[in-house]
Amino acid sequence: MEKTKIPAGNFRGHERQSIWLESPDAELTEVGPETPCGEYLRRHWMPVAMTNQVTDLPYRIRVLGEDLVLFREKKSGGLGLVHLHCAHRNMSLEFGIVEEDGIRCSYHGWKYGLDGSLLDTPCEPPNSPLKDRVCVGAYPVIEYKGLAFTYMGPQSERPEFPMADTFDQDGDDMVPYLIPSPCNWLQVMENAFDPYHVVFLHTRAVRTQFIDAFAEMPLIEYHERAYGDFYTNTRRVDNFVWIRVHDLMLPSFTQNGAHFPVPDTSRYFGRCGLSRWVTPIDDVNTMVIAWRHFREGDDPRGLTNRDEVGFGTTDFYGQGGDRDYEQRQRDPGDYDAWVSQGAKNIHAREKLCFTDEGIGRVRRKLRAAIREVAAGNPAQQPSMTDSIPTYGGDTVLEIPRQADRDDKELLQEIASKVAQIYVSADHLSGEPRVANVQQQLQEYEAQWS
Ligand code: FES
Ligand SMILES: [Fe+2]
Repeated sequence: MEKTKIPAGNFRGHERQSIWLESPDAELTEVGPETPCGEYLRRHWMPVAMTNQVTDLPYRIRVLGEDLVLFREKKSGGLGLVHLHCAHRNMSLEFGIVEEDGIRCSYHGWKYGLDGSLLDTPCEPPNSPLKDRVCVGAYPVIEYKGLAFTYMGPQSERPEFPMADTFDQDGDDMVPYLIPSPCNWLQVMENAFDPYHVVFLHTRAVRTQFIDAFAEMPLIEYHERAYGDFYTNTRRVDNFVWIRVHDLMLPSFTQNGAHFPVPDTSRYFGRCGLSRWVTPIDDVNTMVIAWRHFREGDDPRGLTNRDEVGFGTTDFYGQGGDRDYEQRQRDPGDYDAWVSQGAKNIHAREKLCFTDEGIGRVRRKLRAAIREVAAGNPAQQPSMTDSIPTYGGDTVLEIPRQADRDDKELLQEIASKVAQIYVSADHLSGEPRVANVQQQLQEYEAQWS
């Protein structure tokens, strides 16, 4: 029998076997009640559902490892969110009866209000003291533009809802979507602070999934703000300099630029294409819950499609597992990257390097924030709750290469100046802020002509 020829080389599998002993970072990844990360996450408002999924029936969901039921009560139409199991003998309230002011268990008729208080026990004697002693767990709900948000922490620490400036702009059609992923929340969240994957995964690996200009390696600069950070991705596109800005507000809120930007014509302070949260279902399941923004002029080439945005789907490639396995192998997207890292990515097996500065920053800040809460301190919240200035979006300036300048150094200077212009108008809000930033950008661009 002819022997298979083994290629020469230093095969090091045995040396690497120790990776099987390494484990996930529990401090950043475990989200259940009374875990450090879970308690930190519970100090923030987070979206938990698309409201168009809530019919006249109770809607069962799982958030941070807790099984819950969301329902729309019949008098005011307000949303209630209570623990799944009835306090009597644990029948699931997903089979409950939605009524005025609350939900009634269909086993023996106990009725709960929106705050979880027990309102009625029809099978008990009229003088039963049960109503004073028993309740079901409940969380407050804010409904806004098709999303239901909740706060699952102590009521004494409940913050105001943090309203970003991009949540209510004239001419902006905000379309919600929700897509689940079978993996830990952190790897989905971190993807947004990993700018170099756009160069390879989305452009060079197989084909252009967004626009060709993403193939150029960007210059990245990070900027820390009191209420959220942002980074600039700067690229030259012929005579134009394209500065794409991403926001991150811990624990998981991010905004990025347009999905199909046009970086070969001037644009001043274009706003974000996406406002996105990453909500843990439990330790190994996660929901991306987001609004896609559709504004006049944002998509001159007609590459977006609002009809594709909704429950389980969005209008840009690779966000869910709705492609067959072969297609996912031949043309992987974000979903395939974060899900294939494992149910819980094991950081000890990674080799973080130059391109991972954003990942390092996010993990350090998150760990510090989790430890603050674990030490008994309040979670850091935005100091302003109305029209919080954010930066996500695209600016494109016509600034050709300069004969006497190193272009990389020039791009760095332009990126820093643009970031400085962006934050210089934080004291303004709404249209005056946008107009101020746009005017400064135009004046700056004019200096180079
Ligand atoms: S189990 Fe719900 S009322 Fe008895
Ligand atoms: Fe991506």
